Amino acid sequence: MKVDIVTIFPEYFAPLDLSLIGRARTSGLLDVAVHDLRNWTHDVHRTVDDTPYGGGAGMVMRPEPWGEGLDAVATPGARLVVPTPAGSPFTQAAAQELAEAEHLVFACGRYEGIDQRVIDEAATRMPVTEVSLGDYVLFGGEVAVLVILEAVVRLLPGVLGNADSLLEESHTGGLLEAPVYTKPSTWRGHEVPEILRSGDHGRIARWRRDQALLRTAVRRPDLLAAVPPEKLDKRDVAL
Ligand code: ADE
Repeated sequence: MKVDIVTIFPEYFAPLDLSLIGRARTSGLLDVAVHDLRNWTHDVHRTVDDTPYGGGAGMVMRPEPWGEGLDAVATPGARLVVPTPAGSPFTQAAAQELAEAEHLVFACGRYEGIDQRVIDEAATRMPVTEVSLGDYVLFGGEVAVLVILEAVVRLLPGVLGNADSLLEESHTGGLLEAPVYTKPSTWRGHEVPEILRSGDHGRIARWRRDQALLRTAVRRPDLLAAVPPEKLDKRDVAL
């Protein structure tokens, strides 16, 4: 997968050299380029923002550097992703969809956002998604891009050593994951649940399912309500 990121803070993306994303890059599964939006300004101050039409607080990113920048990086077949608190929610399903793209371009807004014409004009040429990480406001899109990339890159074939970990985790089956434990079996007086040490795979699977249902009911009743009835078995309903 090819990824281009346009930002006024390229330094934010140093973590992309680390860990599994760094390894995906060195192994050739992922090709990331980070671009400074100010490369496409033409005034001495390298201006990227201006006051909003219609008034109001803060500044808005001007369309010209964005237009030139996106023209330079968005080759045919690219898909544009714009993180914004005004976007549609970024979910595991959205990550899966983005993981199928060959070329993602991320536009990191700052201040009050990017002039809407940049997004509207890009949408005449390529698929564009405005996505929100959640109902809170960050300073800009940079951290959101790191989050989105991490969710997407781990889905790329060959990135995770054990692809089974994708099957069991939270949000793939619509429920939160059950708690996990490792050695030692007793730590500061807290025991690992006996059932997990029983070796009885049937009972362990049932226990994990119950824990997942309980957690989801308490923490994310919205998710539990969205589980299709045919995905629940008779023993689930007893909860
Ligand atoms: N930029 C600022 N806030 C954001 C959010 N909640 N999600 C995505 N991008 C953002």
